[in-house]
Amino acid sequence: MSTFDIVGLCGSLRAASINRQVLTLAGELMPAGMNLEVAEWRDVPVFDADEMARGLPPPVAALRERIRRADGVLIATPEYNFSIPGGLKNVIDWVSRGDDQPLAHKPVAIVTASPGPVGGARVQYDLRKVMLFLNAMVLVKPEVFIGGAAAKFDPSGRCTDETTRKFVGDQMRAFEQWIAGVRRMRAPA
Ligand SMILES: Cc1cc2nc3c(=O)[nH]c(=O)nc-3n(C[C@H](O)[C@H](O)[C@H](O)COP(=O)(O)O)c2cc1C
Repeated sequence: MSTFDIVGLCGSLRAASINRQVLTLAGELMPAGMNLEVAEWRDVPVFDADEMARGLPPPVAALRERIRRADGVLIATPEYNFSIPGGLKNVIDWVSRGDDQPLAHKPVAIVTASPGPVGGARVQYDLRKVMLFLNAMVLVKPEVFIGGAAAKFDPSGRCTDETTRKFVGDQMRAFEQWIAGVRRMRAPA
């Protein structure tokens, strides 16, 4: 059985980020055939086309290459002001440029968490729209919105809510199938 290499992107840089905890949870609940590594993007500068024309900044080049190598990308993000956190959008903007942008045809899964009641539902659809433009292959279902998330993780960052654990586990199993399906679809006849 092949192992799918999954790169995680967290929309929050906060040390105690719930979404970072969600990525850890997803990594734990992934089927045996998947492996998660969370990519760091703290050093990615604000997008500047002039700077891009001079050459990709090393953190951007490294992230693009990491995504290119991966079998899938898992994004866990909060919602900021009903939409995509600026830092994450900036990272996507850097990654998105050029004919060789690595999100094209890349399987992507999205999960959002918020202390609020709707669990980042609004950012999810904005992110899906952006991924659509980039030709990413976004897993449609199950959608996972973790509302009231602050109460669902203990101080050590472990998810204590069985329903959340089940949803995230189900999504990871579906993501494995999705990656396998995209691979079959793209295989030469
Ligand atoms: C600038 C900003 C805007 C926010 N806007 C929203 C929002 O629109 N919807 C929401 O549910 N939570 C919003 N929040 C609260 C975040 O969901 C909350 O801070 C969450 O814990 C951040 O995710 P993290 O724990 O992964 O860092 C906002 C927080 C910040 C800092």
